[in-house]
Amino acid sequence: MGACPRGRVEEEALEAIRPGPLQLRLLEAFYSMLKRRLEACILERGIRALVEAEGSYAKGTLTSDKWELDVFLLVEGASAAWIKSRGEGLLLECLRGLPVEARYAEHPYVTVRLMGLEADVVIAPRVPRPGAGGTGVERTPFHTRWVREQLERNPCLADDVRLFKAFLKGIGAYGAETRVGGFSGLLAEVLVIYHGGFRLLLEEATHWRPGSYVDPLGLGDEAALRARYPDSPLIVPDPVDPRRNAAAAVTTRRLAELVVAAAAYLERPCTAYYKPSPRPWGPYYKPDPARVAALELLGDYAGEPRDALWGRLTRLASWLAGGLGELGFEVARWEVDTDEATRALVAIELASPAVPGLQLSRGPPAWSVRRALGYIARRAGQGLPYTIAGDGTLRGLRPRRYTRASEALEWLASRPDAPLPRGTREARVHPPGSPGAVEAAALIESRTPSWPLCLALQDA
Ligand code: CTP
Ligand code: CA
Repeated sequence: MGACPRGRVEEEALEAIRPGPLQLRLLEAFYSMLKRRLEACILERGIRALVEAEGSYAKGTLTSDKWELDVFLLVEGASAAWIKSRGEGLLLECLRGLPVEARYAEHPYVTVRLMGLEADVVIAPRVPRPGAGGTGVERTPFHTRWVREQLERNPCLADDVRLFKAFLKGIGAYGAETRVGGFSGLLAEVLVIYHGGFRLLLEEATHWRPGSYVDPLGLGDEAALRARYPDSPLIVPDPVDPRRNAAAAVTTRRLAELVVAAAAYLERPCTAYYKPSPRPWGPYYKPDPARVAALELLGDYAGEPRDALWGRLTRLASWLAGGLGELGFEVARWEVDTDEATRALVAIELASPAVPGLQLSRGPPAWSVRRALGYIARRAGQGLPYTIAGDGTLRGLRPRRYTRASEALEWLASRPDAPLPRGTREARVHPPGSPGAVEAAALIESRTPSWPLCLALQDA
């Protein structure tokens, strides 16, 4: 036990979450190599710039599962336009000879992957104030500085940040990408710092609701932030630029997940909430492939910004689930996945892969006499019953259009108004129980958290 006030479960979890010495040594060597190269390269070209480590590596909030660096090349006096047109080319020239991948994004950056280590190398203008240059990346060095200062003041908080990040990962809410719609590394840091610790933060989080404004230090202008972010379920002023909502990416679903998981954890702390975790916890349940249907999409997705592709897949899945529901199939949950290049998968877990041939339908009120007669005539023609409810409306049985979920899915996916992601060439349905359904069930399982097991243990 250290000098920082923490429970036994948290201390145990931290053993698995803190980065190891080998990890830190390798990242340090990787960083010096990149820094030397970048510095030599800009010197040669007479460009005045600063190489700086950012992100969790620089802030001391790295976790054991991240063998990753964020390296910034901050160019003096560069305009946003210069960075946009020259930035990527310069990075590629400077890093020639290393395994580098350029990536399409709002701002230029490249990724270097070397022996399992990864570095995002970002180029941005060096600015005197956050937001002065007009792009989001420029805030990063100011975030790094702010977080470091805060953690120097209260060194216990670095491990608390690690705990909260691992907690968010364990509940599937870590990451500001559209794919997740959750909490970024920075937001995790800000929240732990604002509340003075992991436990204190979780206690607060149990009271959060859609529309919560979280600003214990009183940094932001609440009315202005609410006006600027009317659709954000959570507003947390960014400490270095308080007009901005650091929680803008958080969706209501992820907020809700944090609220229930925080309440459950405080009731029964256990290491299954954390990822990485000191011991392997399985998912709290395994979906049965006999109840899982899949829609596989093939196409060209590489040209699409990733966030847009994930957003479209999410919309498609929710449209399919709604359509299946209208056709009488009860959808328990769905998940989407894509390699962001040529293939995507929508996995749908159902209460049952097939439904009975008949379905109860609500008819018109008897007082709409014409429609009511039509309704009765259809029942009589099909040999099916109708009845009149106490309020005078008709009810009856009608044959279902589809009794198998796979047929319903087939029909939905081939509708001209199906919101398939741009670039889709082919859509294939994999019926429950098929090999495609097994893959889809594995996808759902991979997104299934472990922590509900802790609640079940309590009741056992
Ligand atoms: N960043 C960026 N462009 C990238 C990568 C990172 O602008 N291609 C910035 C992010 O905006 C963020 C910082 O670099 O301010 C670090 O981002 P990220 O790696 O997502 O968060 P970390 O705090 O490093 O957390 P983690 O431990 O999960 O890596
Ligand atoms: Ca990082």
